[in-house]
Amino acid sequence: MDNNIVWHRATVTRERREKLNQHKSVVLWFTGLSGSGKSTLAHALEEQLHQREGRTYVFDGDNVRHGLCGDLGFSAEDRKENIRRIGEMAKLFVEAGVIALTAFISPFSDDRKNVRKLFDDDDFIEVYCHCSIEECERRDVKGLYKRARAGEISDFTGISSPYEVPENPEISIDTENNTLEVCVEQLLDILVERRILQQKIENSEESLSVAH
Ligand code: ADX
Repeated sequence: MDNNIVWHRATVTRERREKLNQHKSVVLWFTGLSGSGKSTLAHALEEQLHQREGRTYVFDGDNVRHGLCGDLGFSAEDRKENIRRIGEMAKLFVEAGVIALTAFISPFSDDRKNVRKLFDDDDFIEVYCHCSIEECERRDVKGLYKRARAGEISDFTGISSPYEVPENPEISIDTENNTLEVCVEQLLDILVERRILQQKIENSEESLSVAH
């Protein structure tokens, strides 16, 4: 570490940002097999949060593996580095007062544990998107399972590279048997439970707003 680098103390703090945003910041760390619905669910939740004037950002393979992590492949070592960078990035977004949603397979439990260590307990919600490999392969939205089975893609998660199921995620969502709407509701509920958002009743209509 370079001793000449000094962390600049901002006067605009996370707390002030959260107050302005009228919600707390947090990272929702989606993990699961390719095709398990991580990205779909993260974007659907973001849509709901945005409609409630939440400050949000979704990170997923498409926006990160082309740029920030464009130099990385799918070896265990590269995946580790991919997850490390995303973890650090998400941490900055949490400091910025944002609800950060990350949608990466993140197959290795050690890598996820290392990311978790970057955050205070309240700031990290691991969301396990539970969907069987059979169903992911049946969906095969990107046609990658077929190619992996044909031996055209090596180290493919669930086929030729392992996925380590989270032992203790904050929430496990059954994306195989539930509709998208039900899954989104479960996530909104946990955000209210954890007082990231506050639920209040206005004019006999339910709406979500802020905790601070
Ligand atoms: S992670 O393992 O490092 O977390 P990440 O979520 O960024 O993976 O990227 C996964 C996406 O890359 C998959 O949804 C799929 O579209 C694509 N992909 C390409 N090659 C592989 C592979 N060998 N294993 C898994 N996914 C792959």
